[in-house]
Amino acid sequence: MSEQNAGSQNSGFNTRAVHAGQEFEPRTGAVVPPLHFSSTYAQDGIGGLRSGYEYGRGGNPTRDALQEQLAALEGGAHAYSFGSGLAAEDALIRALCRPGDRIVLGNDAYGGTYRLISRVLGPWGIANQPVDMADLDGVRAAVGTAGTDGAARLVWVETPSNPLMKITDIAALAEVAHDAGALLVVDNTFASPYLQNPLALGADVVVHSTTKYIGGHSDVVGGAVVLNDEELAEKVGFVQFAVGAVSGPMDAFLTTRGLKTLGVRMERHSDNAQKIAEWLVGRPGVEKVLYPGLPDHPGHELAAKQMRRFGGMISVQFAGGEAAARTVAESTRLFTLAESLGGIESLMNYPSEMTHASVKGTELAVPVNLLRLSVGIEDAADLIADLDAAIARL
Ligand SMILES: Cc1ncc(COP(=O)(O)O)c(C=O)c1O
Repeated sequence: MSEQNAGSQNSGFNTRAVHAGQEFEPRTGAVVPPLHFSSTYAQDGIGGLRSGYEYGRGGNPTRDALQEQLAALEGGAHAYSFGSGLAAEDALIRALCRPGDRIVLGNDAYGGTYRLISRVLGPWGIANQPVDMADLDGVRAAVGTAGTDGAARLVWVETPSNPLMKITDIAALAEVAHDAGALLVVDNTFASPYLQNPLALGADVVVHSTTKYIGGHSDVVGGAVVLNDEELAEKVGFVQFAVGAVSGPMDAFLTTRGLKTLGVRMERHSDNAQKIAEWLVGRPGVEKVLYPGLPDHPGHELAAKQMRRFGGMISVQFAGGEAAARTVAESTRLFTLAESLGGIESLMNYPSEMTHASVKGTELAVPVNLLRLSVGIEDAADLIADLDAAIARL
C-alpha cells in the first residue's frame, strides 16, 4: 500500500494518524518527513515556484503535513493550523462574522473563548449570548429565525464542556443552528478527533486547542480549524494568510508527532479516568463527580452514542466548598497543579481562579468547590493513591 493510500479516509483512525501527510522524503527515503524551517523559497524566474511554496506565512511543508493529518483525522476536507487555539478561534470568527453578527455560545464555554468573543471581538461589533446548550428549546429561542434581523451567525459549543462536563447532542444542535441559518462550530478539544468527529454529526466547523490531547505532551501550543465547505475554507485560509497567526515549523512537527499516538493515548486516558471517577464516587468529602462515563451522569447515554470513549477529563465538587477544593489541589504529588490539560502527565486545575478566572463574576463563573482533573497515562493505582492521600487531609 502506498503512503498516500494508507493515510486516506478509508483507513482506520490509527492508520490515518500515523500516515496521513507523512509521505517519506523521496531523495533520501527518510521515513520521517524532514522539518522545513526556511521562511522563503527560491524562484526559477519571477513567479516560477518549484512546488507552490513562496513564503512561510502563506505555506510551509511541515505545517501542510500537519494540516493534512488533522483533516484526515477529523474527516474534513480542509484544516488550518495556528499558533494557539485562541488564534484559530479568532481567525475563524474574523473569517465568518461581520459587525452586527451574533454568536450564541455555551454558558460554560472555556473562559478564554468567552474573553476573546466578548472583550476582543465585542468592541468590533460581534455580539454574544451565552446559553445552556443542553436545553435545545432555549438554544432555538436564542438563535432566532433564519433571515430575520438578529438571527445568530454562529452557534458555538464545547462537548464535553470545560469544566462542567456537560454533553450536548451535536446532531440535534446542528439542526437547530441550520434551521436558523446559523453555522455550528464545535470546540472538540476535550474529546479529540479520536473520541468524536463533529463534522460527521452535522457540525460545520471544528476548532481545537491542539495544545491539549492532539499535541499530547504539554510541550507545544497550537490550534486548528477543520471544515468541509470550500467557500468557508477559502475565507479561513485567507485570514490565516493575511493575519499570519500560523504555527511555526517546530510547533507543527511536535504536534504531528503527538497526533500519531493520539488513539493509543486516548484509550489509556479513558481507562484511567473511568477507574478514578468510579473510585471518587461516594468518597467522604466528595459531593459530586462529573464524568460522562458514570451511568448517572445526565449526558451518559448521549456521550455513549456520539463518543467512542468517555475521555480523560473529570471534574469533582467537594462538600467542604472552596477550602476543601483548595486543600486537595495543593496536596497532590503526582497530579501537578497547573493550567492546561490533555498531556500524558496528570494535571489538577482550580478553574475558578485559574483557567476560568476571566469569567469570574459573570454568568459563566465556575463553582468555587470544583477541581478539574486531566487524568494522564500513569498507572491508575498510583493516581488513586495520590488522590486518596490528598482527600484524606480534608
Ligand atoms: C476547550 C478549550 N478551547 C480552547 C482553548 C484555547 O486554546 P489555547 O490555549 O491553545 O489558545 C482552550 C485552552 O485551555 C480550551 O480548554
